Amino acid sequence: MSKCFEHKIIMVTGASDGIGQQVAAALGEQGASVIALGRNEDALGVTQKRIEELGGRCLCIPFDLTNFDDYGKLFLALKNQVPHLDGLVHCAGSLDRCTPMQYIKVDKFRDALDIHLTAPNMLTQMMLPLLRRAESASIIFTTCDMVHDDQNNWHAYGFAKRALAYVAAMWQGEHPDKPYRFNTLNPGRVRTELFKRAYPGILPSKVPLAESVAPAYLKLLADESKGFRGQSLNAADLM
Ligand SMILES: NC(=O)c1ccc[n+]([C@@H]2O[C@H](COP(=O)([O-])OP(=O)(O)OC[C@H]3O[C@@H](n4cnc5c(N)ncnc54)[C@H](OP(=O)(O)O)[C@@H]3O)[C@@H](O)[C@H]2O)c1
Repeated sequence: MSKCFEHKIIMVTGASDGIGQQVAAALGEQGASVIALGRNEDALGVTQKRIEELGGRCLCIPFDLTNFDDYGKLFLALKNQVPHLDGLVHCAGSLDRCTPMQYIKVDKFRDALDIHLTAPNMLTQMMLPLLRRAESASIIFTTCDMVHDDQNNWHAYGFAKRALAYVAAMWQGEHPDKPYRFNTLNPGRVRTELFKRAYPGILPSKVPLAESVAPAYLKLLADESKGFRGQSLNAADLM
C-alpha cells in the first residue's frame, strides 16, 4: 500500500522528545525520510529506532539550535546529501518555569528568545536552498495559546510565540509566488516534559498525549494543505 509521505524528506526539530518525536514517528509510519534534530543523542536514537520499525528512514543530527555559529556547518553537511527538503517542522522548545516579568533574569529571557524565535527563523533561512529544490514545501512554526491569548508569566516565551504568527506571514509575504508555504500551528496543551514544567499544578493525565496532535502536523505538511499560506492555525481545527 502506498504511504502518503513516500519520497518526502522532512526535517523535524525537537525530534528527541515530546511533540517533535511524535511527529517524526508519524511521518516515518507514512514512509517519510526524517531528518531528526535534537541535542540528546540517546533520545534521538529512540526516535530513529521507532521510525525505522514503522517503515520510514531517519537521519539523526545531534545539534544545539542555539549555537548559531554552527548553522553554516549544518547546511554544508546536508547540501550534497539531501536532494530536496519537502518540509521543515519547528518543534524544539524549552522552558524552566513560568516567571513574572519583574523577576526574569536576562539570560533566561535571552535563552527563550533564542530557541523559540531566533532559531526557527535562522534555521528556515539556512534550509531555504534545500526547500527550494522541492516541488512544494511546508514550513511549520509551532506556537501556543499565547498567539491569541494574553496570558501572564510567560515572559520571552510568550513574546516569541506570539511573534511567530507575524514571522509566518512575513516569510510568506516575501515569497508570495513560491511553491513553499509558511504557517504556524498551535498544538494546544499536550502531555510533555515542557508541559509538566510549565503547569506543575495540572495533573498531566488531564491533558492529551503528544501523539494526539501529530495528525494535524502531517495534514499541514501534506499537499492537500497547499492552500494554507502565512496563516496561524490550531491543531484542533485541522483534525
Ligand atoms: N506541550 C505543550 O502543551 C505545548 C503547548 C503549546 C506549544 N508547545 C510547543 O511545542 C513545542 C514542543 O514542545 P514539547 O512540549 O514537545 O516539549 P518537550 O517534550 O520538552 O520537547 C522539546 C524538544 O526540544 C528540543 N530542544 C530543546 N532545546 C533545544 C536546543 N537548544 N537545541 C535543539 N533542540 C532543543 C528537546 O531536545 P533535546 O533536549 O534533545 O535538545 C526536545 O526534543 C515547543 O515549541 C513548545 O513551545 C507545547
